[in-house]
Amino acid sequence: MRDQAEGLRKLVRKQSSTSRIIAVTSGKGGVGKTNIAVNLALALCQMNHRVALIDVDLGLANVDIVLGITPPFNLGHVFRGEKTLKDIMAEGPLGLRILSGGSGVTDLANLSGWRLEVFIRSLEELNSEFDFIFLDTGAGIHRSVLSFVLAATEILVITTPEPTAITDAYGLLKVINKESPEARVRLVVNMAKNSSEAGLVASKLNSVLREYVDWEVDYIGHLVQESQLAKAVSEQQPVLLAFPASMSSRSIREIAGALAGEKIPTTSLGIKGFFSKVHHFLTS
Ligand SMILES: Nc1ncnc2c1ncn2[C@@H]1O[C@H](COP(=O)(O)OP(=O)(O)OP(=O)(O)O)[C@@H](O)[C@H]1O
Ligand SMILES: [Mg+2]
Repeated sequence: MRDQAEGLRKLVRKQSSTSRIIAVTSGKGGVGKTNIAVNLALALCQMNHRVALIDVDLGLANVDIVLGITPPFNLGHVFRGEKTLKDIMAEGPLGLRILSGGSGVTDLANLSGWRLEVFIRSLEELNSEFDFIFLDTGAGIHRSVLSFVLAATEILVITTPEPTAITDAYGLLKVINKESPEARVRLVVNMAKNSSEAGLVASKLNSVLREYVDWEVDYIGHLVQESQLAKAVSEQQPVLLAFPASMSSRSIREIAGALAGEKIPTTSLGIKGFFSKVHHFLTS
């Protein structure tokens, strides 16, 4: 066991990539994670960044539905040695690369020994390829979701103004603060009536966080509840491409601009460090 851990640390140390890995998550389901992850990824592609999106949600297919693209293979095929990572990457609009976790998300916990090493090594091929890697996760604080969230260097928490969504966001943020205090955590308020309602949600959440855990998150932006977004979803189109002039698209571009403009310390261990952390969380 110790030998394996040491071997993994060596593999990870050799890494020189600085892909930014951003987990998009929420306490409550159905608050807009998938739409925000897909559209932010596309907005960054429009800004000439190289972006990948990994769907690690075990629930219903998510990214597939929003983009109308179903990758034929997933991480499970890589773990079983049937496909390489390059094989399973589907191409989305604007050069966005899409990778589906599929059954592989739970299989990761069972990888050990040389299979785990082969997988971590195979991530090398992604190292220099992407500026941003987005993870569309499931909701809540179950270990299978949290392992991916806590392993990411940046976390985007989505909530709506709905009281249950805010309460669940608070519960999730408390766990993140405790388990991953060094992560860069930001908040997006979705489906707000307007910017003042969204601002109020963010300040309420932050005042509770300040009071109980002496911490606050960066409020990075909001999206209003908008029929064009819902229409885009029903047409299996990302709103950014279907309705580029909509308020949602404008907000997405602003948030993407803010993300891209931030200088994140380049000590991050990139994709290999990320997956070995996920493995550690899943198996500890
Ligand atoms: N800003 C918005 N305006 C209008 N409708 C929205 C908005 N954001 C999301 N929706 C609606 O909410 C639905 C759920 O969004 P989405 O699938 O992105 O949520 P999710 O958090 O990924 O859900 P899950 O937890 O099931 O993965 C979408 O199908 C869409 O119809
Ligand atoms: Mg989703």
